[in-house]
Amino acid sequence: MDKKVNVNTIKAMKNQQRIVMLTAYDYPSALYADRSGAQIILVGDSLAQVVLGYDNTLSITVEEMLHHTRAAGRGCKRAFLVADMPFGSYHESPVQAFQNACRFLKETPAESVKLEGGVKMADTIRFLVDRAVPVMGHIGLTPQSFHQMGGYRVQGRGEEGLRTLMEDARAVQEAGAYSVVLEGIPARAAGLITSELSIPTIGIGAGLHCDGQVLVTNDLLGLYDQFTPKFVKKYAEIGKTMEEAFKRFYEEVTNGKFPGEEHSYE
Ligand code: KIV
Repeated sequence: MDKKVNVNTIKAMKNQQRIVMLTAYDYPSALYADRSGAQIILVGDSLAQVVLGYDNTLSITVEEMLHHTRAAGRGCKRAFLVADMPFGSYHESPVQAFQNACRFLKETPAESVKLEGGVKMADTIRFLVDRAVPVMGHIGLTPQSFHQMGGYRVQGRGEEGLRTLMEDARAVQEAGAYSVVLEGIPARAAGLITSELSIPTIGIGAGLHCDGQVLVTNDLLGLYDQFTPKFVKKYAEIGKTMEEAFKRFYEEVTNGKFPGEEHSYE
């Protein structure tokens, strides 16, 4: 096994090596993501949609996130494990955020939390970082603000949009985050933010000029068929493979072909 990744490894990768982050939600997805060489495994609240079948990420609870973070933690041996803080678990106050972040660090193998928001969340990020909770930021298209944004819309277009994004990025860095996810923003804006910041940026739908990239694992595996954003590249069609395998099993059971002698005991 390569050396265990920690927060310093991630920070030191800026301008040295592109960072790979994958989402995982359970033991097998974390195990295979870990074996791929990815430096970060994120138990994203995308869990709500791609695994639990909710319409958006707002419904998922702290308990559900803890349960899946524990499972992913059992498969994550080398990568740095980050847990997403769900909607409503950090918005009320920095104290509420700290109490819930503590649950992730105490009750699961997570080594960091991620939370959405820029300038408005800076005080909360600072409060956590000052109390030894490593924080990954997340700005741009923040899915937990789905209702407020009027849908999943690219953020930061135009000069005003870029200014707002840059303020968010600086605020997250100054508050002490060790890295920041840039989601759903123009590639040029992501490039400018990446060169401005001293912490690594990890892009999703933010073009090539970020310090690293992340995709939702079930999207890249072809295992989520409800909605595929433009920025997703499918590296496999696991959903179709599953469907075909289930159909073959169905046929063989129906036709009396399974189990064969080789699958039966004397
Ligand atoms: O929830 C998630 O999977 C995320 C990634 C898309 C960054 O936040």
